[in-house]
Amino acid sequence: MRNKIVAGNWKMNKTFDEADTLIDDLIAQTKKLCELKNTTVIICPPYLYLEVARDKTIDTFMNVGAQNLSEYSKGAYTGEVSASMLESMGIEYCIIGHSERRKYFAESDEQLYKKVLEALKNNIFPIFCCGELLEERESGNHFEVVRSQLKNTILKLDKIDFGNVIIAYEPVWAIGTGKTATSGQAQEMHEFIRNLISEKYDKLVAASSQILYGGSCNSKNAAELFSMSDVDGGLIGGASLDAAEFMNIINSAESG
Ligand code: PGA
Repeated sequence: MRNKIVAGNWKMNKTFDEADTLIDDLIAQTKKLCELKNTTVIICPPYLYLEVARDKTIDTFMNVGAQNLSEYSKGAYTGEVSASMLESMGIEYCIIGHSERRKYFAESDEQLYKKVLEALKNNIFPIFCCGELLEERESGNHFEVVRSQLKNTILKLDKIDFGNVIIAYEPVWAIGTGKTATSGQAQEMHEFIRNLISEKYDKLVAASSQILYGGSCNSKNAAELFSMSDVDGGLIGGASLDAAEFMNIINSAESG
């Protein structure tokens, strides 16, 4: 059985004081749970708050991830943050290829593949995002789009490296829109992705890969989404900014 993962993507939200309070609230909430047996919890605050998040969550079951990293290893790349910097701070996860990075920062498959390699080289688990636009779904091209996003990036990895990648399927039309994919739509795409993995590697690798759903996932729809056989948890945006809401989603994963 695969464990579930619930990862919170804070995006560019919260001032330092607000972030500090949210971390404290999350810790207070998580203390109510005796233990988590089936779920890994990750929070991905903005870079500036990683250190405080790491320090405060050290004795909790929360893990800390970044939202992005550089495709370059080091050097004259003003404003960039490298995978080795993250590793040196004890950060173990990083979101790569979020649709907002692809859209607003024109990140290409080629760049994203480099980022994945940088992450893996520095012992960081990539949370690799894929997903189609609304028009791509409406024209029936969603499977092809996702196939191509994965084929040009993580499906180029060798089997060992691939085993360290977490996938997040996030239909772009569902992100921040309040329009969640139905559990059927999510399951169908997750199963498709798992089949791609099986074709490229083997059944065992496919069966152990963790594929998260993201896009307006919240405490009301999480249980149903997470009950789908190929949905292994969620990448949560807006609903991760409220401690009680995020905790309810974690509970859905844990009991699902
Ligand atoms: P959302 O964002 O939950 O606010 O839709 C998800 C994401 O972008 O990772």
